[in-house]
Amino acid sequence: MKLILDLDTGIDDALALTYALGQPEAELIGVTTTFGNVTIDKAVKNTLDLLALLNREDVPVFRGSVFPWGSNSYQTTDDLHRVHGLNGIGNVVLLESSKAVQSQSAVDFLIESAENFGEDLTIVTAGPLTNLAEAIKKNSTAMSKVGRIVMMAGALTIPGNLSPFAEANVLNDPLAAKFVLESGISFTMIGLDVTLQTMIDQKDIKQWQTIPTNAAKAITEMTTYYYTNEYSGEEFGGALHDPLAVAAAIDPAILTQVLPINLTVETTGPSIGRTIGDLTGLNNPIKSAAVGLAVDSTAFLEDFFTITNNFLMNVKSI
Ligand code: BDR
Ligand code: CA
Repeated sequence: MKLILDLDTGIDDALALTYALGQPEAELIGVTTTFGNVTIDKAVKNTLDLLALLNREDVPVFRGSVFPWGSNSYQTTDDLHRVHGLNGIGNVVLLESSKAVQSQSAVDFLIESAENFGEDLTIVTAGPLTNLAEAIKKNSTAMSKVGRIVMMAGALTIPGNLSPFAEANVLNDPLAAKFVLESGISFTMIGLDVTLQTMIDQKDIKQWQTIPTNAAKAITEMTTYYYTNEYSGEEFGGALHDPLAVAAAIDPAILTQVLPINLTVETTGPSIGRTIGDLTGLNNPIKSAAVGLAVDSTAFLEDFFTITNNFLMNVKSI
């Protein structure tokens, strides 16, 4: 399987990248970046530096969306800083990569890859849906050839995380999310419904602490920041949002309950960013979304740590 990750490179994005690189079945052909947890410049930098840390500088990085649709600015908020740190990776300072971002745009790379690989291509989005929306808008014929699109986005049956209604990746660009969800393109939604069932805990982080590589040290440090600060003071902490989307892309059976549904996004009012069933698509027998509602979290966590431990143990960082 050819895989593209679309990241707003914060901490769980970094974990998704590590997990994806360790997957024997997946060939990571590129990482597209977007604003979200961080600005686009930081998303590009974090991605390049993480690939250097993980000794995979051969994976090309593409610069993507700078702002949400309908806006000409983007600023990260205190909520995002609390969860991901000021630099997006828990304030951990990585060695700077010597590689440059590609000159081709993220959107054009998505479209070109869809044309080249079709069914064999899987796209996992782990940030706002802006790049994907732009790609579908520019060439929906090409994008409809993609084998699988899995997105970490939304919350259908439970409250949001950036507001009582909205999950961060959707709230950071509700218009683009609405466009994608209503586009008719098939996708799997990995929302908070399932990602909040896959929490990392301190004993898990300790497994990495014993691995004597620079990569393991940096990943442990940033994950400790994330574990401590996401949902601080509550029973939750350190949801493996973006890694779960990678897992569902590789093995859909990790989801033990999936709801076929047509979805939309609310774009105004107090519930802006809410993912909800689309009334106009209710009686359409073709459902574009498959929403994960339950997950085998034990199997996922076991796989996540087996793969990341093995990868981090063997990586030769620069
Ligand atoms: C999602 O928002 C971002 O903060 C995380 O990286 C994840 O993709 C969780 O709501
Ligand atoms: Ca993310």
